[in-house]
Amino acid sequence: MFETLEPAPADAILGLITEHANDPRPQKIDLGVGVFRTAEGETPVLDVVKIAEQRLVDTQRSKAYIGTAGDPSFNAAMQTMTFADAVDTDRLMTIQAPGGSGSLRVAASLILRARPDATVWVSDPTWANHIPLLGGAGLTLKPYPYYDTEKHVIRIDKMLETLRQVPAGDLVLLHACCHNPSGLDPSEDEWRAIADVIVERKLVPFIDMAYQGFAEGLNADAFAVRHMAGLVPEMIVTNSCSKNFGLYRDRVGTLSILSADATSRDTVYSQVNNVVRTIYSVPPDHGAVVVATILNDAELKAAWRVELATMRARLREMRVLLNDALEARAPQHDFSHLVRAVGMFCFLGVTADQVARLKKDYGVYMVDSSRINTAGITAHNVNYLADAIAAVL
Ligand SMILES: Cc1ncc(COP(=O)(O)O)c(C=O)c1O
Repeated sequence: MFETLEPAPADAILGLITEHANDPRPQKIDLGVGVFRTAEGETPVLDVVKIAEQRLVDTQRSKAYIGTAGDPSFNAAMQTMTFADAVDTDRLMTIQAPGGSGSLRVAASLILRARPDATVWVSDPTWANHIPLLGGAGLTLKPYPYYDTEKHVIRIDKMLETLRQVPAGDLVLLHACCHNPSGLDPSEDEWRAIADVIVERKLVPFIDMAYQGFAEGLNADAFAVRHMAGLVPEMIVTNSCSKNFGLYRDRVGTLSILSADATSRDTVYSQVNNVVRTIYSVPPDHGAVVVATILNDAELKAAWRVELATMRARLREMRVLLNDALEARAPQHDFSHLVRAVGMFCFLGVTADQVARLKKDYGVYMVDSSRINTAGITAHNVNYLADAIAAVL
């Protein structure tokens, strides 16, 4: 049977990780892989996670199955962190899911059950896995303009113009904050304008929140979600705890759905749980219990917010450092979009050819689009990095 198969296309980011690992040059820099890193280049387990895990080891009495919806105390805490009091909770349901990806996959199946002919409109560009993940599940996807690669700004007018032509009932996939790959988020006024078109055209917002707390803070980063929740009858929100809790491999996330009323919410809840049963049956438990332990304990929650703020500040500092270093070496080039961006990613704004030279001549690794993960920059490597970039410009 397997002789009918061709090898699957290589994953660009996984390929880069291997190439970087095999590069013998000590000054090599990895700006490709999508994980947070400290100034020492580590992706550590957060201190609060270690404390919560110890508590769990000491107190957990069973690893029997949990239900398809996961841990209710985790779901409730995540729902509050996402929506605060923006909407009547009678219209909301939240289930635990295996990371943001698992949540997106369940959402895709639900959309196909509810409205199989709908199109999901995605930003151009969007997270590299959105298209294979949602398209692979069977959804029809179409792009809306988002990033201006010349001017390094959001093409807000073009985006709104496109959304104004979208047929009623279609879905619009939005990144709540830290847009991946561009790092540029709409301002609050721009979010309001996007929400107005969504309401006017009767579209369904489908918001992916993979970086809550990485842009401005937990509440500011949820602005789009909360603002739209107050305006629309129906909405889908996916959350990931991979980045903000550093629980990448534990697979922790939620799927929340806002319905028109409590009756419809109950129907959606039963359908979502049925979808889960047919894909992975029950979600992984460990990471979600860790998050619930942190969010439901005032002291741990406060300590987590400090760790989150430290990660956020480091990303911001590295952007400023790189922009300053480039300004000093290549004043004729404008890299100020590095500082306007938020979160882990942004485009450096160089050609694929220059990306290839950075890799070959300097051991600086990034994906062909020149999207960089700012967490790969440190005070120690920034001068070498800026020299290398200036040399290939
Ligand atoms: C925009 C976006 N959505 C979803 C995810 C998925 O995250 P997870 O690792 O929790 O599946 C990512 C991860 O990089 C992402 O960037």
